[in-house]
Amino acid sequence: MEVQQTAAPIRGAEEAKQKIVFSGVQPSGKLTLGNYLGAIGNWVGMQQDYRCIFSVMNLHSITVRQDPAALRRQTLEVLAQYIACGIDPAKSLLFIQGHVSAHAELAWILNCYTMFGELSRMTQFKDKSKQHADNVNAGLFTYPVLMAADILLYHTDLVPVGQDQKQHVEIARDIAERFNGVYGDVFTIPEPMIVRSGAKIMSLADPTKKMSKSDPNQNAYVLLTDKPEDILRKFKRAVTDSGSEIRRGEDKPGVNNLINIYCAATGSTPEQVEQQFVGKGYGDFKMAVGEAVVEVLRPVREKTEDLLKNKDYLEQVYTEGAFQAARLADRTLEKVYKKVGFLAKPKR
Ligand code: TRP
Repeated sequence: MEVQQTAAPIRGAEEAKQKIVFSGVQPSGKLTLGNYLGAIGNWVGMQQDYRCIFSVMNLHSITVRQDPAALRRQTLEVLAQYIACGIDPAKSLLFIQGHVSAHAELAWILNCYTMFGELSRMTQFKDKSKQHADNVNAGLFTYPVLMAADILLYHTDLVPVGQDQKQHVEIARDIAERFNGVYGDVFTIPEPMIVRSGAKIMSLADPTKKMSKSDPNQNAYVLLTDKPEDILRKFKRAVTDSGSEIRRGEDKPGVNNLINIYCAATGSTPEQVEQQFVGKGYGDFKMAVGEAVVEVLRPVREKTEDLLKNKDYLEQVYTEGAFQAARLADRTLEKVYKKVGFLAKPKR
């Protein structure tokens, strides 16, 4: 397989004044159906209309303790899964966050323009410091600042994220506005782009919680690498609600979640689903959802397996990506250096 030059479409985008999209997921585990329906799957279509940059956020991952070998493996796997889901390295810029040093460098600078108080109010920080009470490290606290650096380095206009990350995009805006207020127009002010239906896929074991790969209960989530029989088993066991009708309701988090997943997997509307399953029970419906998900994930899993057998190709993609990303990011960092009063970095 040949790696296409990403530089050409990116330069073309600049001329066409296309909006810039930046997003990424952490390789802190295996990706779930939630990551696919709520994030990566939605990025695929954006490649037509925007200049897209997608990164594997490994620097963020170590705010929680990781096994080094697993982190390395998952980083490559997430990159493979981006491509398997339909992110095209010829159209989008794909890279691994830790390969572009400007992220860490800008994060340091932005730290000095971010207030202790505003970071203390971040709900994810409050939640994670409860979850990992034995490791409330400074990185966990300044996590949103690194995320702001990710976004601001590329003059990002739009950041597709789940509802849970909206607050982080908002603080990135606040930091950018504060910085621009002092130094003039350096950063583009980004906007969160909250994706519609699939935005929040809930746990199959407790549909009041978000589907998460860090859930200790393996039946709570479906992985993109799960085999069809595992997927079907997990849906068969999915928690439903009292009653027996396939109908949405405020007091029916389990059924709502399954309907939502079925819609995201098949493209149906909730009304169509309710219509289609009139007179059917939860058992039938859970099987149908499981089968729909199996069909959606089958090509993703197969393509991922193929890509992971071709490490040279993946290495070419991330090498070229790192080079292209650094070129863009360094330009922004250079400007920031100048504004804050640092001597420009010597060039070789
Ligand atoms: N914090 C995001 C998450 O956990 C991942 C992320 C890091 C990100 N940097 C980003 C997402 C920049 C969008 C833009 O989902």
